[in-house]
Amino acid sequence: MEFIDLKKQYERIKPQIQDRINQVLSHGKFIMGPEVAEFEKQLAAFVGAKYCVSCANGTDALLLSLMAHEVGPGDAVFTTPFTFIATAEVICLLGATPVFVDIDPDTYNIDPVKLQKVIEDTKKGIVRGAGIAKPLNPKAIIPVDLFGLSADYDRINQIAKQHGLFVLEDAAQSLGGSYKGKKLGNVTDIAATSFFPAKPLGAYGDGGAIFTNNEAMADRLRSLREHGKGSHKYDNVRIGINGRLDTLQAAILLSKLEIFDSEIKERQEVAARYTRAFKDLVKIPYVPDGLLSAWAQYSVVTEKRESYLSKLKELGIPTAIYYPRPLHLQTAFSHLGYRQGDFPIAEHTSDRIFSLPMNPYLDSVDQGRIIEAVKKAAEGISRG
Ligand SMILES: Cc1ncc(COP(=O)(O)O)c(C=O)c1O
Repeated sequence: MEFIDLKKQYERIKPQIQDRINQVLSHGKFIMGPEVAEFEKQLAAFVGAKYCVSCANGTDALLLSLMAHEVGPGDAVFTTPFTFIATAEVICLLGATPVFVDIDPDTYNIDPVKLQKVIEDTKKGIVRGAGIAKPLNPKAIIPVDLFGLSADYDRINQIAKQHGLFVLEDAAQSLGGSYKGKKLGNVTDIAATSFFPAKPLGAYGDGGAIFTNNEAMADRLRSLREHGKGSHKYDNVRIGINGRLDTLQAAILLSKLEIFDSEIKERQEVAARYTRAFKDLVKIPYVPDGLLSAWAQYSVVTEKRESYLSKLKELGIPTAIYYPRPLHLQTAFSHLGYRQGDFPIAEHTSDRIFSLPMNPYLDSVDQGRIIEAVKKAAEGISRG
């Protein structure tokens, strides 16, 4: 058994994928070929946003979104320490400062109550990281929809409005999920997603996209992803990057988008079965009313993580830990001066969380094996 198995999906849509790839090989427009615009149009419609600007990966999607808002030195960008490094890395790449805010203990997403407090403190010149130069200009919030579950956008958007900030949703893990009936990717000012192969909508390589309802913003993003081009390739009006999505990846994603709705439904079934089986054994994922998770991961929390992991390994069940170390304790951010104890919920969760195999193609036999293995591990632990 593999942690992420992409072969069964390929078997389901092999002829469509091969046709799409062959079309690209025939027309030969490998950069910005017709599939790129077609994919952007279809994905914008899927999410319900006016514009989708595709790009090379989810990290560039975040970076381009910040560049388009001219985020730079002296700016504070508020985000969660319990995420993949890319979320905060892009802030530093532009010379701005990530200001971390602890997470909610149940959803593992940024805690709006703490967010409000940290923004107010930052405005007063109080910031926790000892290495952070003060004062900072609060500029943006990057909430992450961790494991596919939406952050609390009603409250986050309201806080952003109150303080004049923009919200960049990191929807790398949550495409296909929704918040109170609205598709994720279309619940804030701007959103970034990733098509890394293991994501809910994954390419066969790197890919990413940005969503916005603002036409001028979409134009700026299109310029930035192609070296800041103006009216043509050799008219460069701003500093940008080479951040385009490959035509081949767009072609593959077009085939995968056709079955994406059905895969999201299948993920709900896999998650529901896990939840029924594990509710008395470990802390299962919490999905607030009105939210639909894209179930990028199924993650559980337990005081006995090491015992579970070693028993599951012995029984041939792959597992993963997202994330073993919160970002404020990563060497790359040591210049910010955060310390152990600064974000207790993120730290506590990092020490106890682990993820089980989750994908739409997990058949009942394999899932049964995983459930039995978790139960066996739990029995062993309760016997001591
Ligand atoms: C929360 C989050 N943000 C950003 C990224 C970056 O995406 P990519 O790997 O496509 O650059 C990822 C995934 O890798 C992610 O999980």
